Amino acid sequence: MKKINRRELLKNGGALLAACSLPISLVEVAFGKNSAQNFTFAFVSDSHITHVKGNKFVNNWDRGLIRAVAETNLMDPKPDFVFYGGDIAQLGKPEEIDHGLEILSGLNQKTHYVMGEHDYYVDLGDYWRKQLGPDHYSFDHKGVHFVVLNSILTFEKWMHQKWGSGMDRMKQMARLDNPNGQPFMVGEAQRKWLKADLDKVSKDTPVVVMSHSPLQKIFKGWNFWTDDAEQVQALLKPFKKVTVLYGHVHQIQTNQIGSISFHAAMATAWPWPYPATYSQKESFLPKLTVEMNRADPFFERDATGWQFIDMSNGDVAVNYQLPNNRNRVVALDRKSGKPADTMYQASDKRIPPQDNY
Ligand SMILES: [Fe+2]
Ligand SMILES: [Fe+2]
Repeated sequence: MKKINRRELLKNGGALLAACSLPISLVEVAFGKNSAQNFTFAFVSDSHITHVKGNKFVNNWDRGLIRAVAETNLMDPKPDFVFYGGDIAQLGKPEEIDHGLEILSGLNQKTHYVMGEHDYYVDLGDYWRKQLGPDHYSFDHKGVHFVVLNSILTFEKWMHQKWGSGMDRMKQMARLDNPNGQPFMVGEAQRKWLKADLDKVSKDTPVVVMSHSPLQKIFKGWNFWTDDAEQVQALLKPFKKVTVLYGHVHQIQTNQIGSISFHAAMATAWPWPYPATYSQKESFLPKLTVEMNRADPFFERDATGWQFIDMSNGDVAVNYQLPNNRNRVVALDRKSGKPADTMYQASDKRIPPQDNY
């Protein structure tokens, strides 16, 4: 796909291309035979609104979210609703959550929220729940069953141990490479709730699960990991078509485990580089086809991006639009049974890592 700038894209692009140009994920749920049932929803994630002091917030993170909201409202066709994938706030402060929600209140569509660890660990989610309601719930929309989970809980014993302050706990959980930060988990109570919820759903119904951390184990050191992922997957396994969409990792990730497709969203704030340990995980995760060591610090939107997801008969094809890299499509390769980059999967076609740092 030819790289075009935003102005050209808006001038020349049709509705579909315009939808691709947003710093959000547009998810299209397509029912092969019954196209009247098709619909789209948008997915915005990881804004990390950061309070500085008084009424000052980190401008760059504000701008990412403001842009996502403005462009979601310009989408054509309009998404039926929006998902927000978690980490509205950087340190869970009420000022940060309020400021983020004020920006998000500009959305014209109903928005469903997912709890992120940056929203949670300062007060164990009290302020977030006061503003937004329950952190796990489900609903049905045009024949698809949607489930939202809070996947960033951890051991009760660890959460409630004596901390100097909630902020001390937040700072332990929000750090990378911190052996004192405990693993994320959905937990027994929510798994029990999920089982009861799914018991009421026919196994033919497409299921879309939204979580903050991946419901698969990728890299524990950075909490790209949910400790009871296998137990949650076991509850989803009987369904024919399941898609798990998550935030938290601020990068493209895709995987297939049985009938479950996994796809991550880009952040509106900043990118995370890929952990080096990914190279040891090739049997589990598909080979990465966008190699990015780190973002270009002089280009604020570098390695952020957007995608729209086309679900045709439950098979997911993700169209990634990357402002400073080549666009790509990752779709299920029926031969291997895993998602693969449709253009750049072969090793001789890989794009080398960025060298602009
Ligand atoms: Fe995040
Ligand atoms: Fe997160």
